[in-house]
Amino acid sequence: MNILAQIRGRFAQALGQLVDDPSELLDMVRSSQDAKFGDYQANCAMPLGKRLSRPPREIAEEIVQHLKIDDLCEPPQIAGPGFINLRLRSDWIVERLEAAGVDERLGVELTADPKTYVIDYSAPNVAKPMHVGHIRSTVIGDSLYRTLRFLGHRVIGDNHIGDWGTQFGMIIYGYRNFCDVDAYEASPVAELARLYRLVNTLVDYQASHDGLAAIEQQITEKSKLLETQQAAPPTGDKKADKKSAKAVRKRQGQVNDLRTELKATKEKIATIDADPVLSKQLSEHPAIRKACLAETVRLHDGDADNLRLWEEFLPPCREDIERIYRRLGITFDYTLGESFYHDRLAAVVDDLREKKIAVESDGAMCVFFEGDDVPMIVQKQDGAFLYSTTDLATLQYRVDTWGADAILYVVDHRQALHFEHLFSAARRWGYDQVELKHVVFGTVLGGDGRPYKTRSGDTVGLEGLLDEAIRKAHEVVSAGDDAKPDGPELDEEARSRISEVVGIAALKYADLSQNRSSDYTFSYEKMLALSGNTATYMQYAYARVRNIFARGQIDAAALRSDTAAIIVDHPAERAMALALLQFSEALEQTLVDYRPNLLTDYLFALANQFSTFYQQCHVLKAETEELRTSRLKLADLTARVIKQGLALLGIEVVEKM
Ligand code: ARG
Repeated sequence: MNILAQIRGRFAQALGQLVDDPSELLDMVRSSQDAKFGDYQANCAMPLGKRLSRPPREIAEEIVQHLKIDDLCEPPQIAGPGFINLRLRSDWIVERLEAAGVDERLGVELTADPKTYVIDYSAPNVAKPMHVGHIRSTVIGDSLYRTLRFLGHRVIGDNHIGDWGTQFGMIIYGYRNFCDVDAYEASPVAELARLYRLVNTLVDYQASHDGLAAIEQQITEKSKLLETQQAAPPTGDKKADKKSAKAVRKRQGQVNDLRTELKATKEKIATIDADPVLSKQLSEHPAIRKACLAETVRLHDGDADNLRLWEEFLPPCREDIERIYRRLGITFDYTLGESFYHDRLAAVVDDLREKKIAVESDGAMCVFFEGDDVPMIVQKQDGAFLYSTTDLATLQYRVDTWGADAILYVVDHRQALHFEHLFSAARRWGYDQVELKHVVFGTVLGGDGRPYKTRSGDTVGLEGLLDEAIRKAHEVVSAGDDAKPDGPELDEEARSRISEVVGIAALKYADLSQNRSSDYTFSYEKMLALSGNTATYMQYAYARVRNIFARGQIDAAALRSDTAAIIVDHPAERAMALALLQFSEALEQTLVDYRPNLLTDYLFALANQFSTFYQQCHVLKAETEELRTSRLKLADLTARVIKQGLALLGIEVVEKM
């Protein structure tokens, strides 16, 4: 039961008597931040008063007159300039909560409007080291997947891996020229990753070298422009002079940026020049950059040798990623990587050309957008297709084959422009009925405020991250167990098992509890903290409730089928009951803009509410048998909602910690 939706429904009716379209006003019906003002609050009388040029209090009174809500709420109160405060009827709360208690879904109804969602998440580039950003995409996508499914939607998880990109040209070249055969035999993935890094360094060196002249030329050009701008005499017109001063500053900024870039590039070149092994390799492979590009082209053109190598490399690379997913407890319905779409690309471009959505420009096929200088290129001069082309083919496949109503792309913020272009081109192409959403996320930062890097160049990158989280979790779990008043309860095997769950949970929750659009700072200490909004805290909260049951030797199954009434006379009981009933609302809020942190916020508030309740109300030692049963029911429901909520985040609980 989504209480907010119920109340908004009632307001929609009442407001319908005053305005034609009340939908905007309904957003102003919310749950109250402060119990003083009731459980829910409607602030729509103020803007409506303004719109109708009438005193808002009068409007509020009129809304209340039309409002049919007495089965749910006590008589509405009008406060201040025209706030409408609603307090739910306690008998209604009890009735709903008792229904939730015997419901496996804990009172969360299935959606009345099931849709087909495709979620595009994780999507690492195989054979390149996976980075923390891929964890972010993986856990955010996974939790949206679980939540949408729980609400009854059809959801397809599709891991759009990069398995066809230019990295393969580099690896093929590296394999033919630099491979350490023994190392490859022993661990193909590690050796391929080493080859990728080596070749990438050499290619990058050449690209930097070749790019120097262009940067220098730009500096010269921009400096000349700057001089002309600076030499222009003031016009005397204040506005115009201000404008040109601003232009000068902007130009100066451009020149400075270019100088910084030039310096950084030169430094990079110098570092490699100073490395005897790398310089030797460079002198032996003077055309490596071009050669690698050529290998990729040969692969894409179906060259038998390159295809054979690609087919040889792919399985171990995929197995390498799979291992991480297994540890994270994540599965996909499909893993249709870029290579899957390869033979569809030419048809996509043909169709775009025919429909005049793509046009030729400098020999390339481009889609142009109004008010945007940069086009989206779908085919290069040399005939090669691009990332965008593949994404268009993928979108087409997902809608045509799976009947997607919505596609969510969980990809970092640096690709924002790509998705803007992609969506806009897709709509023109006829895919205007499907919801296309870039579920964007920020960068994971290290303590130094720069993008977080695992020891660079280390293939165990992501795995090392998991290992470290689990090792640190072991310390936390052991310390907690050692400190128990009656001595430790867990043997080493139990500690290890629990640490695995706690460590992975900490990593996931740290990510999910952040506003996904912002950057966040990675810290093992913070993510494993016992207090605050962490998985560890939530898991302890769960285990604590379960511990009450163990101490009281309560049979939870029997309790659930006990028909004794739930009592909400104490304010802490009532607040607990209401918080439990708001689970459904929290899930729906989470899906409005696909923000898992709204679910973690809810769960954290729920756990805190439980602490208050537990402090203020005796449970096992309740004053009467009826109260004891009722409070145990509240406790049991709290544990079940926490467990279910965490499960939707892809996080497990342990019964004992
Ligand atoms: N492989 C890409 C990367 O690592 C992400 C792909 C995201 N999905 C997509 N349909 N473009 O940057």
